[in-house]
Amino acid sequence: MSETPIVQVRHLQKQFGAGCPHCLDKESVYLEKNYCTSCGTVHAVRDVSFDLYPGEVLGIVGESGSGKSTMLQGLYFDGDMTAGEVYINQPGLAGHNVLTLSSQQKRYIRNNVYGMVYQNPVHGLKMNFSSIGNIAEKMIAAGNRHVGSMEKRGEELLKNVHIPLRRRKEEPQNFSGGMQQRVQIAKALSNNPPILFLDEVTTGLDLSVQASVLDLIKQIQRELQISMVVVSHDLAVIRMLADRSIVMLNGEIIENGLTDQILEDPQHEYTQQLVYSLL
Ligand SMILES: Nc1ncnc2c1ncn2[C@@H]1O[C@H](COP(=O)(O)OP(=O)(O)OP(=O)(O)O)[C@@H](O)[C@H]1O
Ligand SMILES: [Mg+2]
Ligand SMILES: [Zn+2]
Repeated sequence: MSETPIVQVRHLQKQFGAGCPHCLDKESVYLEKNYCTSCGTVHAVRDVSFDLYPGEVLGIVGESGSGKSTMLQGLYFDGDMTAGEVYINQPGLAGHNVLTLSSQQKRYIRNNVYGMVYQNPVHGLKMNFSSIGNIAEKMIAAGNRHVGSMEKRGEELLKNVHIPLRRRKEEPQNFSGGMQQRVQIAKALSNNPPILFLDEVTTGLDLSVQASVLDLIKQIQRELQISMVVVSHDLAVIRMLADRSIVMLNGEIIENGLTDQILEDPQHEYTQQLVYSLL
């Protein structure tokens, strides 16, 4: 690919705890997976670098605890990262490490450049607001003040994610898990972000609902050409959605390439196990 990436992530790192000389070394005997038995620090994300290209779906796969959500939340400025750089190739942002911007600038990016679908809908939605109110909230945050146009846009979004319009005033707490995820997707898309993050968007849903949410994501990708980062511990989901994928283990990227190639010829022992468990 000769195109310029829309997002460049460089040496991203997140540790919970201060660290100690023992856990600086990745091969240290004190490290149990991502946990330092000497100082108790969790190395959730360790030196993660990757590019996201315009219009592509990048998959991130890895076992529970491998650091996928921490990484995504870091990109979305939910928590401060310990170290690293993130560049976004969008007007006014190119060349700046966005992790170092002011909170006001970060808010602008969250509301206008990024969309986020959280693993747990409680983090992405106000469960006791109406569904359309949840969507409007995001549009208001981006500066929209026109009630009529927000209502129209909200209805259009709910229709696109197959929520019946007569339920638009209902609170997400009354909805099924699949419907909650679809309201989150509608909200995430409300300001037409060029970049969308999806964290385990189908996990915990039953198979038929899972299929409909996956179809919805594919449809969005086809129609809107959004660049997406799709996180899942389930290789089957990644296979269905992602052109290119990254495999994470203990906070590190252990494999990286075209999804088909990873599936056909996994290099790392852990990836091999993942792939064989699919067969
Ligand atoms: N606030 C926190 N304090 C301490 N450790 C944390 C905190 N948040 C996450 N961690 C640890 O960071 C590591 C990565 O967690 P993360 O939620 O990113 O994993 P994940 O890959 O998303 O897993 P899953 O597939 O279960 O969602 C885990 O070991 C977790 O216990
Ligand atoms: Mg997670
Ligand atoms: Zn340590």
